[in-house]
Amino acid sequence: MLVIIKEDYDDMSKEAAKRVASLIRKKPDAVIGFATGGTPVGLYKELIRMHREEGLDFSKITTFNLDEYVGLPPEHPQSYHYFMWENLFKHVNVDPRNVHIPHGMAEDIDAFCEWYEAKIKEKGGIDLQILGIGANGHIAFNEPGSSLGSRTRIKTLTEKTRRDNARFFDNDIEKVPKYAITMGIGTIMEARELLLLASGENKADAIKATVEGPITAMVPATIMQMHRKAVLIIDKAAASKLSQIFTG
Ligand code: GLP
Repeated sequence: MLVIIKEDYDDMSKEAAKRVASLIRKKPDAVIGFATGGTPVGLYKELIRMHREEGLDFSKITTFNLDEYVGLPPEHPQSYHYFMWENLFKHVNVDPRNVHIPHGMAEDIDAFCEWYEAKIKEKGGIDLQILGIGANGHIAFNEPGSSLGSRTRIKTLTEKTRRDNARFFDNDIEKVPKYAITMGIGTIMEARELLLLASGENKADAIKATVEGPITAMVPATIMQMHRKAVLIIDKAAASKLSQIFTG
């Protein structure tokens, strides 16, 4: 695992954007996995700036999002569909036909999940998967205890995650959906590169466990230790509990 520690949120976001942009320039038809949550918003702002000012071209990329709340239609302001279009896709020249986000209103969720897995394979697999991390160490919506070999499926959200995400739902936990469709940990691990971002002190315990702890399904992000190309870009606050920091 390569851990890159940046001064603050802005520097973290810019470093991540540099890496995503460099992939798109090298491979214009790259398959990129996108993430939601507060953390990647700065990365997306920087990508939008690069598109506007430097001509970064998204027209040939294919995208797959990690997850979506069950029961929220795409036009719901808290759906991850809405989030992605508002925070990135509508500001760049991505081809809507190449955008894939799990469908929270799918009638047959199991069939949808199988279709999603097949689609990722059909597109040649994910070149770069962007990830955030939950304070309990979850990635996408793979909560503690998720099988480390899991595939795209429906998951029940923990109360901790629903409480953490209530800030997007008028601070009312009752409004936060109880289920989500999420790529599995096995699905995520098949991406050729993982890029996890974390900022702030409330992520410091999860980052310490991810980098220095034993691999355990109770902290799903720890599986990244087994990935051949996993890059963590974190700010100083998120890195504050790491005991081994090498600079050079
Ligand atoms: C949600 C998302 C995760 C995200 C996590 C952390 O649970 N499903 O993909 O990593 O929130 O979000 P934030 O970046 O807002 O802390």
